[in-house]
Amino acid sequence: MIKNLLRKKIVTDESSKDLHRCLTAFDLVMLGIGCIIGTGIFVLTGIVAANQAGPGVIFSFLIAGFACAFAALSYAELSSSIGGCGSAYGYSYVAFGEFIAWIVGWILLLEYGIAIAAVANGWSGYFNNALIAVGLGLPEFLTKPPAKNGIINLPASIIILMIMGLLILGVKQSAKFNAAMVFLKVSAIGIFIFVALFHVNPENWSPLLPYGWFETLPSGKTVGVLAGASIVFFAYIGFDAVSTAAEEAINPQKDLPIGIIGSLIFCTLIYIIVAALLTGIVPYTNLNVSSPVAFALQKIGLNSASAIVATGVIAGLTTVMLVLYYALTRIILAMSRDGLLPKQLNKINKSTKTPIRVILVCGFIMALIAGFVSLGTLAEIVNIGTLSAFIVVCCGVIALRHHGNKSKYVYKNKWHPLVPVMGIVTCTLLMTFLPLDTWIRFLSWMSIGIIFYFIYSYKHSKLN
Ligand code: ALA
Repeated sequence: MIKNLLRKKIVTDESSKDLHRCLTAFDLVMLGIGCIIGTGIFVLTGIVAANQAGPGVIFSFLIAGFACAFAALSYAELSSSIGGCGSAYGYSYVAFGEFIAWIVGWILLLEYGIAIAAVANGWSGYFNNALIAVGLGLPEFLTKPPAKNGIINLPASIIILMIMGLLILGVKQSAKFNAAMVFLKVSAIGIFIFVALFHVNPENWSPLLPYGWFETLPSGKTVGVLAGASIVFFAYIGFDAVSTAAEEAINPQKDLPIGIIGSLIFCTLIYIIVAALLTGIVPYTNLNVSSPVAFALQKIGLNSASAIVATGVIAGLTTVMLVLYYALTRIILAMSRDGLLPKQLNKINKSTKTPIRVILVCGFIMALIAGFVSLGTLAEIVNIGTLSAFIVVCCGVIALRHHGNKSKYVYKNKWHPLVPVMGIVTCTLLMTFLPLDTWIRFLSWMSIGIIFYFIYSYKHSKLN
C-alpha cells in the first residue's frame, strides 16, 4: 500500500518538473523569515509576559525554538524526498495513506485558517494604535471581540477581506517582493533593538519567573514558562512554508536545511533579544496590550520610534497573512484534487487564474472568526493543531525510512532516529502544557473531521 502510494506520488512529482529551480539558500531563508516573524513576536511576547511567564518569556522562546528545530529537520527531509505543495498533508499521504493524510489536512485547515485570523488580530492592534496616534482611533467596541467587552474587531475582519480581494486578483509571491517586506520588518525590529538597548532598567527583570515553570490554576488556565512556551510557539509557525519550495530550490539537498534551520536560528535569536529588551524597558505587568512593542516605546517617551516600528510591523504582518492565506488555498486545492473535499472547490477561474471559490469561502469564514474571537484563544488553537501536524511529520520520517524508496532521498538527517523522536517528544510535551479548553476545542474539530471523512471524503476519494 505504502509503496503504491509512493509510486503514485513520484509520478505526480515527475509531472511537476516545469517549476523553475531558481531559489538560493538566501532566498529560502528570506522566505522563512518573511512567513515566520509576525504576531508571535510583536504581540504575544507582551501578552505571555504579562499573563504567563513574566520576563521568563525569554526562556519560553528558547524552549519553543528547540522543539521546532527537530520538527524543522524532519520537514527538511520529507520535503526534499517527497516534495509537492501539500506540505504535511502530502507527506502523510505517502507515509500513512489517505485517512491519516485527511486528518493532517483537516488539522492544517485549522492551523492556517485560524493563524490568519490570529495575525489579523495582531495587525488590528497595531493599525488602531497608528490611527490613535493621528487622532483617528476607532471606538473600543469596534476593535475588540465580545469576550473582551467589545462588539467586533472590525479592522481584523476588514484586512482579511482586503487580502482576499488581492488574492482573487492574482497576487504573485516573488522572492524580490518578499525580500523587500522582510527588509521592512527586520528594519523595524533593528530600530526597536537599537533604541531599546539604551533604555533597559534591569530592575524590570526581577522577579525573573513570577509565575514559575508550570502551574494549572483552579480556573483551568495554565501559567509559567512552559505554558508560555506552548503559546509563543505560534511565533515559529511558518518555517514549514519553506518546505513547499523543495521543487524550486536550486540545490535542495544543501539549501533546504539551510533555509529552514537558518531562518529558525535567525528568528530564535531575534525573539530572545526582543523579548529580553521588551521586558527590560517596561515592567512586564504593563504589556497586556494589543501592540506591546509600539506601546513600550511610547511608554518610555520614544513616540517617533514607536510610529516607525509600528509601520514596519503593519507591513510585516500583512505579508504573513498573505503567505498563510495563499498556503491555505493550496492545501485545500490538493485535498480537493484528491477528492477529499468537494471538487467544486478546485475550480480555477479562467481570467484571473486563481481559485476564486476557495479564496471567497476561506475569506468570509476567517473574517468572521477574526472579528469575534480573541487573539489568545486563536493562538492556542493554532498551536495545538500545528504541534500535532509536526508530530505526524516526525512519525512520517520514521515510517518512510522504514518503508520508502531510499534512492529518492535528496536530503537525509544524519542523526536519525534521534531527530524525529526528539521532535515527537518535545512537541507532545508542548501540547500537554496547553489548557484543557484548547484540547476540548481541538478534539471537537477532529471529531467533526472524522465524521466528515466517513460521510463524504471516503466515498468521493479518487483512491476509491
Ligand atoms: N509565526 C507567525 C506569526 O507569528 C504565524 O505571526
